[in-house]
Amino acid sequence: MAFQGTLVWLYSLAVLSFSVAQDDSSSPNDCLKTDLVEELSAKLKLAVQCSDAWSPEQTATILQSLTNLTDTLQKQQLKDCQNAEPKNCIEAQVPENGGLACVTVDNRRLCKPMCSHGYDFNFLRRSRLFEECSEQTSYKWQTQYVGGNKLAECNEAKVQVSGAKTAYFPKDQSCLTTKSNRTLQRRLLEDLTTELKNLGIQGEPQNPCLVCG
Ligand SMILES: *[C@@H]1O[C@H](CO)[C@@H](O)[C@H](O)[C@H]1NC(C)=O
Ligand SMILES: *[C@@H]1O[C@H](CO)[C@@H](O)[C@H](O)[C@H]1NC(C)=O
Repeated sequence: MAFQGTLVWLYSLAVLSFSVAQDDSSSPNDCLKTDLVEELSAKLKLAVQCSDAWSPEQTATILQSLTNLTDTLQKQQLKDCQNAEPKNCIEAQVPENGGLACVTVDNRRLCKPMCSHGYDFNFLRRSRLFEECSEQTSYKWQTQYVGGNKLAECNEAKVQVSGAKTAYFPKDQSCLTTKSNRTLQRRLLEDLTTELKNLGIQGEPQNPCLVCG
């Protein structure tokens, strides 16, 4: 009898944990697990190697989840420069195949458009590192495009000649590679502050950020 009781108990436990595992809705606690990101990154690396072994249905299932996750994360990532000073400036558009590195100095919002390796700006901007939005520009983006908030476009190109050297991500280092590494991101934003100083734009840098298109 006691043995049967234990079995029933074990069975209920199994059902319970099964239904917990089946429950999609994650509590905020699940999301705050610090190792979730590491676990997921490791599993995704493994998945790349295993993908050959999957059935078409399995591949489609994973593709669907990843597409959803990619869209969700990218939308979130694009907001990392929001709410910077001065608030009267609208958000600058982030170029695809590149990024925007921005900082506020002396109540001027300054953004440096950057292109990934293999991409180039379609307008010459070698001596034009930054675009500005401030009181001096009537809180509109200074840009080579007419009106609006588009600062640059990055088009596929064999050689990168239109921009300054520092306006390109290195071959082995994309915008997201830079952003995912605290040291690399800090270095990029420090270099940017130095470039501003060299242009005579002095002051405490505020709201530094990097967004990847
Ligand atoms: C992505 O997943 C979320 C959460 O499960 C869901 O609410 C949303 O509808 C999905 N979006 C798409 C485009 O599938
Ligand atoms: C970040 O980049 C630096 C410099 O390239 C490198 O030494 C370091 O290992 C990287 N850190 C991570 C966590 O990838």
